[in-house]
Amino acid sequence: MRSLELLRQGEHVMTVCNSCRYCEQYCPVFPAMEERLTFGKADMAYLANLCHNCGECLYACQYAPPHEFGINVPKTLAEIRLQTYEDYCWPRFLGAAFRRQGLLTALSLVVSLTAIMLLARGEGTPPDFFSVVPYEVMVTLFGGVFLFVIVAMAIGVGRFRREIGIEPGGVTKALRDVLTLRHLHGSGVDCSSGEEQRSPWRRWFHHCTFYGFMLCFASTTAAAIYHHVFGLIAPYGYTSVPVVLGTIGGVGLVIGPIGLFGLRRQRDPALGGRAQDGLDESFIALLLVTSLTGLALLVLRNGALMSVLLIVHLASVLALFLTLPYGKFVHGFYRTAALLKFSSPKA
Ligand code: HEM
Ligand code: HEM
Ligand code: SF4
Ligand code: SF4
Repeated sequence: MRSLELLRQGEHVMTVCNSCRYCEQYCPVFPAMEERLTFGKADMAYLANLCHNCGECLYACQYAPPHEFGINVPKTLAEIRLQTYEDYCWPRFLGAAFRRQGLLTALSLVVSLTAIMLLARGEGTPPDFFSVVPYEVMVTLFGGVFLFVIVAMAIGVGRFRREIGIEPGGVTKALRDVLTLRHLHGSGVDCSSGEEQRSPWRRWFHHCTFYGFMLCFASTTAAAIYHHVFGLIAPYGYTSVPVVLGTIGGVGLVIGPIGLFGLRRQRDPALGGRAQDGLDESFIALLLVTSLTGLALLVLRNGALMSVLLIVHLASVLALFLTLPYGKFVHGFYRTAALLKFSSPKA
């Protein structure tokens, strides 16, 4: 369904909800909706990114399909959310990539990058990582890609932020909502995965994924400080800061994605996940391949497999980084921006 038709459907759903208001206690979407009489593009972009797809309002709705009104808030907002990623991303023509992702494309990207890097690798004497890929090459390659990713995402999220307009204030409350994923479970009960099915697992697996990723990121930053500030060359000891952070983060980043992947498969398709299957599953797969290959590298860094494992790990990281601005990763920034707007006292 294309942009205009989607927007009309969003307008229809929000207009019915605005007259009904049965779900007003469930989550921020409904109070934010009640402040509006019309639902234009900017309003729908904001509301769609406030929704956490918990499912609560679908199961409560007396106008849900097969009722002729056909009200399905989570599905409609999930589709509009995906459209916002496409509309605001930079450069715009790469927006089409959001709908082309899938398990197969993600894994093919890793395999292709691995093949290219295997051809270009050095002799590789364990445990010397830089005999496989020289340090300057690693820094230039990952530094360059990382810089592009930061610029692309900053422009995309900046466009979205300007569209919805965020007033200052309310940062602490918004951050608390982000870090606890409070709205992933409507009205105080645990997240729903189907009618009358409640469990805390989606939230916990997301926490493992989110905090695992943050720790891996902190580990890479600590390794860069070890290298540049202290002049210490990798590999680092098993009790060093980069390895401890990376190991804890890596374990979280194995448990979280596996759990989320399993839950997705059992989730009620009526909640609208199907349209985003490719987007979610390719991201989950790239996170998992990155953490698994990182941990395998840590365990086997003194053996003959070091060189191949390092290449596969670096290829996975590269595939993950390259797809960040055009994949599921952007949801974190869009949702944080929407929650900041919601929490602002003047909103
Ligand atoms: C600039 C990008 C990156 C480079 C150059 C890089 C390189 C490395 C290297 C050389 C190791 C082996 C460390 C050792 O055996 O002591 C490693 C381990 C690991 N990497 Fe990466 N990595 C990068 C990004 C990432 C990212 C983004 C993730 C996760 C999302 C990740 C997850 C891991 C994990 C879990 C380990 C094993 C634990 C550890 O050794 O700390 N890496 N990485
Ligand atoms: C920064 C704040 C973040 C917020 C507020 C947030 C919130 C959410 C919410 C509400 C969902 C469920 C709805 C949906 O699928 O869109 C979700 C899904 C997901 N998030 Fe996040 N997220 C954040 C950051 C991250 C980060 C940094 C990662 C990983 C590095 C991540 C990984 C995922 C994955 C893999 C899914 C799909 C899970 C599923 O299939 O249900 N999120 N996130
Ligand atoms: S989702 Fe249904 S029950 Fe809830 S406010 Fe909208 S119309 Fe009413
Ligand atoms: S699915 Fe959950 S978060 Fe989304 S609008 Fe309904 S109650 Fe709110």
